[in-house]
Amino acid sequence: MALFTSSTQQVPTAAAVPRHVAIILDGNGRWARKRFMPRFSGHAKGVEMVRENVRSCLERGVEFLTLFAFSSENWRRPSEEVSLLLQLFIKALEQEVDKLDRNGVRLRIIGDLSRFDQRLQELIVAAEARTAANTRLHLTIAANYGGRWDIMQAVNAMLNAQPAKRSGWTEADLESFLSMNFAPEPDLFIRTGGEERISNFLLWQLAYTELYFTRTLWPDFDRAHFDVAIASYQKRERRFGRTSAQLAGDDSDA
Ligand code: IPE
Ligand code: IPE
Ligand code: MG
Repeated sequence: MALFTSSTQQVPTAAAVPRHVAIILDGNGRWARKRFMPRFSGHAKGVEMVRENVRSCLERGVEFLTLFAFSSENWRRPSEEVSLLLQLFIKALEQEVDKLDRNGVRLRIIGDLSRFDQRLQELIVAAEARTAANTRLHLTIAANYGGRWDIMQAVNAMLNAQPAKRSGWTEADLESFLSMNFAPEPDLFIRTGGEERISNFLLWQLAYTELYFTRTLWPDFDRAHFDVAIASYQKRERRFGRTSAQLAGDDSDA
């Protein structure tokens, strides 16, 4: 039995405040360049904005916040930038987990973590264990994550779990092996930085998510910008395949 309503199998209820917000935080490099600063200072400012957006979610009652911090394709960047990003990630884990824990935030890292060095992997395991009992906000950082990687690792795990089964697999079977199996599908997707693409983020889970693209660069995406995104979401009519007339009538009438 699936834990959450699948948007393709049933009609989910659309809450006024999105339960799950997924964000591609993009534009750190350009933010720095505009100030004649190294790209790295944009990433450092980006971490501050993660803090601010976590606060916004806690205040607004968002239950799940999922952030794309490092894609499986970001290894293609110059090695100095990759290594600075990983150092920043380590530093954030060392410095922020305490406060997250005190605020009732459960932290998870999704992605192919095997490529990270030992120290980072240990910090991740410790941070997840430390916050495992928290339920107020589920904060998930996607690191060395790719939507296709996720689907393929889930397919492999699903097939391995029942090697004798030859056919008849369902969406629910696969969903239980996806990295986000603990969360409802995102209600709202935000991408900062002006690009209008998914860049291999949550390919499966975004099936019926409301998409919000803004030119605001991530280091500028403060509480006020977050509220504008929520307001835009609240104006959307989430039909999940139905007609407007059906929605105006009985919401539960699928
Ligand atoms: C997003 O900012 C952060 C990561 C991808 C790690 P970018 O570094 O992509 O910034 P731009 O897109 O070059 O401005
Ligand atoms: C997407 O940003 C990935 C993350 C924010 C981690 P990129 O800056 O890497 O995306 P592209 O290359 O512009 O699509
Ligand atoms: Mg970018």
